[in-house]
Amino acid sequence: MSVKVLMVCLGNICRSPLAQGILESKINSDLDIKVDSAGTGGWHAGQKPDERSILVAKKNNIDISKQIARQFTVTDFDTFDYIYVMDLSNLKNVLLLAPNEKLKTKVHLILNEIYVDENREVPDPYYGGQDGFSDVFKMLDKACDQIIYKIKNA
Ligand code: 4NP
Repeated sequence: MSVKVLMVCLGNICRSPLAQGILESKINSDLDIKVDSAGTGGWHAGQKPDERSILVAKKNNIDISKQIARQFTVTDFDTFDYIYVMDLSNLKNVLLLAPNEKLKTKVHLILNEIYVDENREVPDPYYGGQDGFSDVFKMLDKACDQIIYKIKNA
């Protein structure tokens, strides 16, 4: 059975498309993992990722340019097994939509995968420069390694 993972940020154009692309790049033939991403806000729905995210991914041999932004919906709670959010504001907004307490347990801050219970955030790089996107890439790369390890050993 396939494991379904959803990456969530605010706009679905900077952080979560990178998280999706990075996790997808780590899936090999003995792993059945499906990945998608979404934003808690809908302003960028229908758009491709931010050029700076596309660039940092490309530098790491990952193509995220075909992704299309969409807004998180309540049905995502049923579709996905793991819902990873980037920051505390995403966490709050996703949890507010949860139909029940059990479904809330699917939602995790992505950096808690590597910094357990520290509640660290992936900073929003939107208003900064390319360096911020490189930092975000590195954080997400480590977190995705741990997600793969966790799913493999589940
Ligand atoms: P993301 O970054 O949540 O990582 O996709 C942002 C993208 C757009 C905006 C904010 C954050 N915005 O305000 O439009």
